[in-house]
Amino acid sequence: MKIIKKKEIEERSNRILLVRKEQNLSEYVPDAKQRNYVQERLNLKKEVALLNQLDHLVIIRVLGQTDEPKNNRLEVARKAGFEVHPMLNDHDVDSVDVVNCGVEPEECVAFAEGLALTGYQFLKYMTGEKEKQNKLEKIFLVDEALTGDQVDKLNHVVKAVYLTRDLVNEPLSFLTAVQLSLEIEKMGKEAGFEVEVFNKKKIESLKMGGLLAVNRGSLDPPTFSILTWKPEDAVNKNPLVLVGKGVVFDTGGLSLKPTHDSMDYMKCDMGGAAAVAGALYAVAMNRLPVWVVGLIPATDNRPDGNAYVPGDVVTMYDGTTVEVLNTDAEGRMLLADALSYAKKYGPELVIELSTLTGAAHAAIDKYGIVGMGNASREVMDNLKESGEYTAERIAEFPFWDDYKEQLKSEIADLKNIGGKYGGAITAGKFLEHFTDYPYIHLDIAGPSYNKSAYNYRGLGGSGVGVRILYNYLLNRSI
Ligand code: BES
Ligand code: MN
Ligand code: ZN
Repeated sequence: MKIIKKKEIEERSNRILLVRKEQNLSEYVPDAKQRNYVQERLNLKKEVALLNQLDHLVIIRVLGQTDEPKNNRLEVARKAGFEVHPMLNDHDVDSVDVVNCGVEPEECVAFAEGLALTGYQFLKYMTGEKEKQNKLEKIFLVDEALTGDQVDKLNHVVKAVYLTRDLVNEPLSFLTAVQLSLEIEKMGKEAGFEVEVFNKKKIESLKMGGLLAVNRGSLDPPTFSILTWKPEDAVNKNPLVLVGKGVVFDTGGLSLKPTHDSMDYMKCDMGGAAAVAGALYAVAMNRLPVWVVGLIPATDNRPDGNAYVPGDVVTMYDGTTVEVLNTDAEGRMLLADALSYAKKYGPELVIELSTLTGAAHAAIDKYGIVGMGNASREVMDNLKESGEYTAERIAEFPFWDDYKEQLKSEIADLKNIGGKYGGAITAGKFLEHFTDYPYIHLDIAGPSYNKSAYNYRGLGGSGVGVRILYNYLLNRSI
């Protein structure tokens, strides 16, 4: 998919006209008979009308009302992009002009974003993929208020989401921890950010006990990837660090997950890692003047002859001892090491993303990100505003110290699970133990993977995290 700026429409180009409900259409639909037809459709409370001109399509699409809050209108526009996509596909349209006929430029961008994200497919493993392939390849934005640079930037963000989705959709049969690091290196080469990968030997020499404990049941080695985007004109003195959970498959380990409905989609357990890689890709492609570091600890979590077992005590990278009471609470083991490692950067802020708990999923489903942290009110509010702007919304949970009670162990500094209640928060509190900087934990267990198609977020990996992080970093850079 490519989104490109264009000055004006050609006579025969397929087009989508973005309008308001009460708009006079005479300028855009000159033929009176056709205009009557469109008006009739819209009067019937339909939001879309299609004029088949035989050698091209004209689609008139109504967007939100001006009295609605802007963020709502942007989401209406993205969803409108999603709704129009099948009409284009049915007519084998491979290129379309999106024309601003009286909406705000941001809504035009959001529409193109929704349309482009809807066009995503993961067909790598389909033989005879041609018939299944979506037709749309190019979206031309026709809006005088938008610069070519703005449109290119949108194009890169969409590409970042595509790459993130690809990573999530790749099964373990391809995407081992080592392969994940190789894919991240490829993304770094293309976008211009640096990637350093620690192999098992290096991880052992650093004594990253949490990551190594989870990896003990695996035949494949772990990796720890460090992604760096440090432009000369960076606005920040201390980096913003993004940490992503890279469990390339989570069987639960010896605390094995029951397979149906629980283990089946656990290839998605590196959704946080994929979002971090995607965010760095977008930031670097768009040359944002902000210093960002990504940390991605990766392994699969499996039962095996030498797998870590419940009752084990693990010495973590920072020296903390952890009593493992459930090997399925593995994400926090490797994330803890990455969070300790982040200290050496003296970061301004660390945002960590992970498909961490079923409890977060159970609490709010796929409709948002469960967020919590100890960063300032201002930082959290800015991040939440980015969430509203991109419709990757954060539901903020409390982060009270009371929850730490549940993590006390009889024989070690901490145990890796809490009690029956507040599971999303006790997981966050466990992670906070390994930080000494402003910290935000985003649990994306709910929205990271769609078992059935969910609007422009699609089927399978949704790429959640990329757009909220990009928008936050964009705002931080200006
Ligand atoms: N990867 C899972 C969490 C998850 C659940 C992700 C659903 C995506 C969708 C995580 O490693 C896990 O197994 N968490 C356990 C923790 C428990 C053992 C304390 C859980 O939530 O059940
Ligand atoms: Mn698990
Ligand atoms: Zn997991």
